[in-house]
Amino acid sequence: MSNYHIKHLEEYFKVYRKSVREPENFWEEIAEEHFVWRKKWDKVLDWDFSKPAVKWFEGAKLNITENCIDRHLTTKGDKTAILFEPNDPNEKAEHISYNQLHERVNKFANVLKEQGVKKGDRVCIYVPMIPELAIATLACARIGAIHSVVFAGFSSKALATRINDSDCKLVITSDGSYRGKKTIDLKGIVDEALENCDCVESVLVVKRINSDIYLKEGRDKWLQPLLDNASAVCKAEIMDAEDPLFILYTSGSTGTPKGMVHTTAGYMVYTAYTFKNAFQYRDDDVYWCTADIGWITGHSYIVYGPLANGATTVMFEGVPSYPSFGRFWEIVEKHKVNQFYTAPTAIRALSKHGGELVEKYDLSSLKVLGSVGEPINEEAWHWYNDNIGKKKSPIVDTWWQTETGGMMITPIPYVTPTKPTYATLPFIGVQPALMDENGNELKGNQVEGRLCIKYPWPSMARTIWGNHQRYKETYFSAFDNMYFTGDGALRDEVGYYRITGRVDDVIIVSGHNLGTAPIEDAINEHPAIAESAIVGFPHDIKGSALYGYITLKDAGEYRNHDNLKKEINQLITDRIGPIAKLDKIQFSDGLPKTRSGKIMRRILRKIASNELDNLGDTSTLLNPEVVQSIIDKRL
Ligand code: WTA
Repeated sequence: MSNYHIKHLEEYFKVYRKSVREPENFWEEIAEEHFVWRKKWDKVLDWDFSKPAVKWFEGAKLNITENCIDRHLTTKGDKTAILFEPNDPNEKAEHISYNQLHERVNKFANVLKEQGVKKGDRVCIYVPMIPELAIATLACARIGAIHSVVFAGFSSKALATRINDSDCKLVITSDGSYRGKKTIDLKGIVDEALENCDCVESVLVVKRINSDIYLKEGRDKWLQPLLDNASAVCKAEIMDAEDPLFILYTSGSTGTPKGMVHTTAGYMVYTAYTFKNAFQYRDDDVYWCTADIGWITGHSYIVYGPLANGATTVMFEGVPSYPSFGRFWEIVEKHKVNQFYTAPTAIRALSKHGGELVEKYDLSSLKVLGSVGEPINEEAWHWYNDNIGKKKSPIVDTWWQTETGGMMITPIPYVTPTKPTYATLPFIGVQPALMDENGNELKGNQVEGRLCIKYPWPSMARTIWGNHQRYKETYFSAFDNMYFTGDGALRDEVGYYRITGRVDDVIIVSGHNLGTAPIEDAINEHPAIAESAIVGFPHDIKGSALYGYITLKDAGEYRNHDNLKKEINQLITDRIGPIAKLDKIQFSDGLPKTRSGKIMRRILRKIASNELDNLGDTSTLLNPEVVQSIIDKRL
């Protein structure tokens, strides 16, 4: 018997040691006993971080949907697979059983085939959190098409960039979406995006808000009539272990978004295994992750990980504040949720705006609470622990990334003793290292450095779509023979890890990764603006918020600064999306620069955070005088 389900701390240590000493044997046992394969692998692992090239379960053949759906039908056909809770609490929740999911995915897959989608083609999915979003991703996987889900809050420009980057042939969207009191015209955004996307041949539209939309002749079609005519049987395409399953874009510190490519077998094995353990999922549990499937958390821990375990996974369409800040707790009570997984930014907003509402609801079903996306601060951790978990449900503070595919450092609830703000111990098979700036590994405990991973794990991204060189430079060049995460971390006296935050120019706002460069590029398009620099500063609810320092081309010219600020945020909304809007905008006569002309963000970051005592060395600046004037006018 392999160690698929870890129940005690001693067992964790034992299994962890095995996963490090004999990684291939270890993963082979897990893969063999807990998944269905059309053909077994020839080799468990082949890797070389210098290229970088990583292959897991090479030679194996499978289809992930057979693992997530078909194999459960004999034992769990009537069990709810997806439990859909709509935006409006008065609309009925929908229980989609494994049998029904099977039928809907097969039909959808047949529709995709009819539209000419083949194995290896890219399909962009720009759909809100309704069942069709999960069904569309699984339908792609069924026929071997590579899905690229784009979060349905991105602007048309951001959508177009992503569609073009991976040459998507088909787009799936909806007539619109509900978000609290608002509706959003998603189809309009797609139409605008597609003006600049020649690769797209057809668009399938899910009806959600019953709005009157424009359908472009020969290109756009309502999905439902096609589904009505589709056969409910679609043979699963047999995939190689290393065939791409999906592309998911994430922001880098510079340049265009990176299309992280995840492959089939390793991703499946690792997301399933982490899901089982990090949530201690048991057969009749109802599990809810509040993320959107547009992000990696939704891919791995709403869709693939839970379904591979035959779980019931909740999909919530709405927002935490509608109709009140009690909405999450109402849902927990209504569906008797056992595991609840959310982001620190939501916890902070709920504690601040609706702390008293918690008492109204029966949360006694909860057994495990999860956190993901950014460091959870001490106050939020305690509020979550005291008020939601009633000090009985362990908090799993799970550290991982779009690039890692699955959780990397996390407590296992009821196994690993938790510690506020600590992600605690590496998950099975994960070999972290802390590095100093000179590339030396910091051994022992009570050290702080840059967080790297020394050994491959099954769900790591294999490349950046269309740009392997960038993959190598971004993740495998900072330190020899290691994957560099971009995060800093410390290891305490017992070996627990605490993530201290990004060490690059990525800023995490409300759990969303934002690169500073694309935001600056958007701002600099404004004709009045000469230059801009974006930094993060601490924010009560968002964790970090954005502070922009902006210089104008003609500072002497009279300008209405309030209007200019609005124009700047509008530009950002158009180019990226409302999530990247600036909280504070300061106009200044210049930006502090090094002699080589680089903007010294370190200083700007300190000013934005009000850490004026220790600005660091300003002697290398070309224009030290500008620093004081920025300080004087800081917001
Ligand atoms: C941050 C989300 C501290 C980190 C799954 C990472 C965290 C980035 C945690 C990845 C955590 C994620 N504690 N920081 N528990 N989880 N992060 O790609 O900086 O959206 O590099 O993946 O979020 O964000 P991404």
